[in-house]
Amino acid sequence: MDETGISRRRFLSRAALLSAATVLPIRLLGEASPRPLRVILDLDIGIDDAFALLFAHYSPAVDLVGITTLFGNTTRDKSARNGLYIKERFGIGAEVYRGAAAALHHPLGDPPTFVHGEDGLGDTETINPSIEAADLSAPDFIARTIMDNPGEVTVIAVGPMTNLALARLAEPAIVDNVREIIVMGGAVGFDGELGNATTVGEANAWNDAHAMDSLFRYSWPVTMVGLDVTYTPDAAMDPVYLQRLRDQADDAGVFLERISRQYRKFYLASRGVDVTFQHDSIAVACAIAPELFEVKRGKLRVLTDGVARGQTIFCPEGHHEFESPEWADLPTHSVCSALDGPGFLELYERALTRAANA
Ligand code: BDR
Ligand code: CA
Repeated sequence: MDETGISRRRFLSRAALLSAATVLPIRLLGEASPRPLRVILDLDIGIDDAFALLFAHYSPAVDLVGITTLFGNTTRDKSARNGLYIKERFGIGAEVYRGAAAALHHPLGDPPTFVHGEDGLGDTETINPSIEAADLSAPDFIARTIMDNPGEVTVIAVGPMTNLALARLAEPAIVDNVREIIVMGGAVGFDGELGNATTVGEANAWNDAHAMDSLFRYSWPVTMVGLDVTYTPDAAMDPVYLQRLRDQADDAGVFLERISRQYRKFYLASRGVDVTFQHDSIAVACAIAPELFEVKRGKLRVLTDGVARGQTIFCPEGHHEFESPEWADLPTHSVCSALDGPGFLELYERALTRAANA
């Protein structure tokens, strides 16, 4: 357990830390904060979302208060069904809330079955949960939970940002009452990565570019976890790591290794490496172990139309354009620029295996 990491979280908010320095150093691996973070996890449940959901469920640093789902990696209904399946199989207490079926303004496209399979979970299991989603919609649940717990709730959004945008439209005051929003999405090019859905469009940003852009226009504390850090090579899970999870993390390990096979095939075909990149779990890690990340401060926009739909543009603090008419009115947010990859893998494995051995 890293005492330095714990005391940082206990005494300083992320905003206070960030005002102290534009770039934070990578620290040694941290562990659970004394009081678990109250988290709503918002997902388009495909394969890496399933990894993230079990990471949050088994992490002692997280108090998972709700699982909100939406379209993206698969359809709205399959995304919710996958959440219900995982909730039932692994005994997750939080309810599943069904959310958006499509983007705010873009027409609905076909889900990327070549990445996540027909069922969104790699087509290896029979996904047939016997439980049902809660009655409340995902945006209403997000808005209500934040307003009932001012300053307490962290939203980790790892799908298109549609549910969050709808929650803010339903209850604008959530902007001042959410503790933090951590988004897996976008890419600003720190590491040469700009897009995965298109040349410059990261999938979650591209799937609902208006929702993602609107997120950056409000002064709630947003931290962006983009492809800049989620493609960190030594944060990828390789076959040896996945086999170890299978052997040591009980049924969760068996499930995750099995669904990872389709995802490995996709990365082998598309990037020539036999690994899985865990975009969404890295966003969960950012919430519970921020000391693993370097962060830069600046303003963000997302292009909403045309060939550059979904492109994230970052104007860092100190840039000569920072106070220009195009950027002056926008609030400053945080963008992750580097990740301690082995630290992330260790944190993930420890959460999963500790649960199995408890
Ligand atoms: C993001 O898009 C989805 O395919 C993944 O689940 C992740 O949230 C990566 O670009
Ligand atoms: Ca996702």
